[in-house]
Amino acid sequence: MDLPMFRDETKEWNHALLLYDSALKEIDTKLQILSNEFKVEHQYNPIEHITSRIKSFESIAKKLRKDQRELTVENIIKYVNDVAGIRVICSFTSDIYRIANAISKQSDVKILKVKDFIMNPKPNGYRSYHMIVAIPIFLSNKMTETKVEIQIRTIAMDFWASLEHKIYYKFEGNAPEHIREELKVCSEITATLDKRMHDLNEEIKLISSPDGYIDYTYNPVKYVNEEYYGTIVEDGIVDGEPYHK
Ligand code: GTP
Ligand code: MG
Repeated sequence: MDLPMFRDETKEWNHALLLYDSALKEIDTKLQILSNEFKVEHQYNPIEHITSRIKSFESIAKKLRKDQRELTVENIIKYVNDVAGIRVICSFTSDIYRIANAISKQSDVKILKVKDFIMNPKPNGYRSYHMIVAIPIFLSNKMTETKVEIQIRTIAMDFWASLEHKIYYKFEGNAPEHIREELKVCSEITATLDKRMHDLNEEIKLISSPDGYIDYTYNPVKYVNEEYYGTIVEDGIVDGEPYHK
């Protein structure tokens, strides 16, 4: 790649790209392992699919220019958090937190920053869970902590974000008022959809007996926590059996 930098840093940039590419592979493997674990242990897959990308040099340069920083490899590594980016698409909102927790607990992953745009959506309606993490990359004689941006979203959040992205570019950030309002409404609808799909899934999980048959006569069923289902006899007293057994 021809770099429009002040001095020739081709060698340094290629080395940085090697690290970012390796970091994406490490995080991708971690996510695949978690996904396989859930499939084996719970017969359930919290991850729909995963995509990853290295940010284009043009976008990196634009970001540094916007922050009024000189375009050097050192500044890219220091100030651009999302050179390596990975996006995880889940079915349910609860899966997002499950994945985020599992990644956070791993001893070789450092959490540098978390932005929860699900609890606090952006004013335009954007919802997603973002983590900037650092992961050690071991080369033949050196270890380097390398940053990766992980975005975790539901299918509905991803659907919304890709349309919003298209609209943003089409109008170069100045979409007409009624379009922005409609996007906001759509975001609220996707939030409601996510919530109702989650609740429905939880209810189905509850009424499915452990051997797989659904007892529709089981009533009333009250969701207590992840571990138990049963009838509420008195406040706080559960007449039920362990669910995940
Ligand atoms: P840092 O906090 O310095 O990492 O940068 P930032 O402010 O750009 O981070 P933020 O977490 O706000 O956004 C990072 C990425 O999330 C973007 O590159 C997009 O991929 C995505 N994103 C953030 N906001 C929006 C949005 O309004 N619409 C869409 N479609 N994507 C968004
Ligand atoms: Mg941003």
